[in-house]
Amino acid sequence: MYPTQPADAPTSVPTRAVILAAGKGTRMKSKLAKVLHLVGGKAMLDHILSTMIEVSTIAPVVVIGHEADQVRAAVGNRADCVMQMPQLGTGHAVMVAREAFERLADFPHQVIVCYADMPLTRAETFRKLSALQAESQAPIALLTVMNDNPRGFGRIVRGGNGDVLAIVEEVACTPEQFRIRELNPGVYCFDGQWLWQALQKIQPNPQKGEYFLTDLVEIANSEGRSVKAIVSDDIDEVIGINNRVDLADAAAILRKRINRMHMMNGVTLIDPDSTYIDASAMIAPDTTILPNTHILGNTVVGGDCIIGPNSLLRNAIIGERVQIIQSVIEDSQVDEDVKVGPFSRIRTGTHVHAGAYIGNFAEMKNTQFGKAVMGHFSYLGDATVGDKANIGCGTITCNFDGVNKNPTIIEEGAFVGSDSLLVAPVKIGKKARTGAGAVVTKDIPANETWVGVPAKPIKK
Ligand code: UD1
Ligand code: CA
Repeated sequence: MYPTQPADAPTSVPTRAVILAAGKGTRMKSKLAKVLHLVGGKAMLDHILSTMIEVSTIAPVVVIGHEADQVRAAVGNRADCVMQMPQLGTGHAVMVAREAFERLADFPHQVIVCYADMPLTRAETFRKLSALQAESQAPIALLTVMNDNPRGFGRIVRGGNGDVLAIVEEVACTPEQFRIRELNPGVYCFDGQWLWQALQKIQPNPQKGEYFLTDLVEIANSEGRSVKAIVSDDIDEVIGINNRVDLADAAAILRKRINRMHMMNGVTLIDPDSTYIDASAMIAPDTTILPNTHILGNTVVGGDCIIGPNSLLRNAIIGERVQIIQSVIEDSQVDEDVKVGPFSRIRTGTHVHAGAYIGNFAEMKNTQFGKAVMGHFSYLGDATVGDKANIGCGTITCNFDGVNKNPTIIEEGAFVGSDSLLVAPVKIGKKARTGAGAVVTKDIPANETWVGVPAKPIKK
């Protein structure tokens, strides 16, 4: 009912991924670790980690260093964390990861290495690399990309037969190499037997003193082995994030990808450029999303809904044929055939039942709202409202006495008059009524009408 991208089977060759995430990320100018910044509502690290879990036949390894505690906590038990301290370069980072392999009974046949600041590379791309390595038995199969803007990437030097001879870092390029359009995004699949002994041959870079992973290409060539490459046809897939401009660029690329997927699945987006849907949200076909709408977190939207304009749904479960205009719904459930808005807010823990009507400037928090009506300018907190109840304009549940939050129960068919204050804990019985401006401090029995301040039953 809620189509997402198809889940592919893991690769057949035993493969383990290593994600390098120990670097400092200075250019983000942030107290938060770079890889924990969000792209499409999901941390960069989570993007690459979930892709890697898909392609790795055993739990990936994450190399951590800077802000290690934050990053380790974010990884949780999804991968094996290894500490790199000090950080002596990308080659050194992989050497340090060896420790996580030694804990295994058997070394995997393939090791995929990628950088944590590249969240948008697709699992399919890693699988292609993995297949190329398996077929060719090359010590290294790597991804390259053609682009006129090198963004500081290492250049790919090819030999006459098309094999890769070297990766030259931009700072070390000759003028001729500087002009090479084929770039190294930093995505590699290694022969798992070859890698570990080859790493020992890397010498510290004479300029920077770091161990460069990219030197393995020349090491393989010096052993007479050929290095294979796949050219990516999608530059967007290999965007690396170094600063907040890159972060916004990556978010825009991901947004396009997500929006396109929803449109292909039958969702109408009136203006995709102003529609913000998190990677984790699901939307059923024949729903229309109007401009400037944010569908965030684990939101699920049913079919035939009209959402927006200017609405925000976060972790909301929305049934079919729901209309939400200029409103906010967070951590709540709204069942089918409900109308909300404009300008209403449904807060945490609320469940609006099928067929309810919620008009403008209505707020609900932790409320069970039956098939009832709340037209305008009202607040319900910690309330339970039965079917066919009517909440008059200006009704307020006084649910907080300064210490505790207290419940209000409004039973089926009750009619709460305009501007009533319901001082909780309190109950309005079945088909009971309150007069305009009533301040209700005691439970009202079924079928009675109470008025005044404090409210009292009217004499018949
Ligand atoms: C690297 C590549 C370059 C490529 C570019 C693509 C090398 C020597 N160069 O350069 O060819 O075009 O990426 O973005 O590999 N890291 C560690 N430990 C370290 C150093 C780095 O974990 O000691 C991690 C960083 O957190 C980062 C990744 O490795 O996620 C890449 O490191 P970075 O310093 O950004 O490499 P670049 O200079 O960009
Ligand atoms: Ca980088």
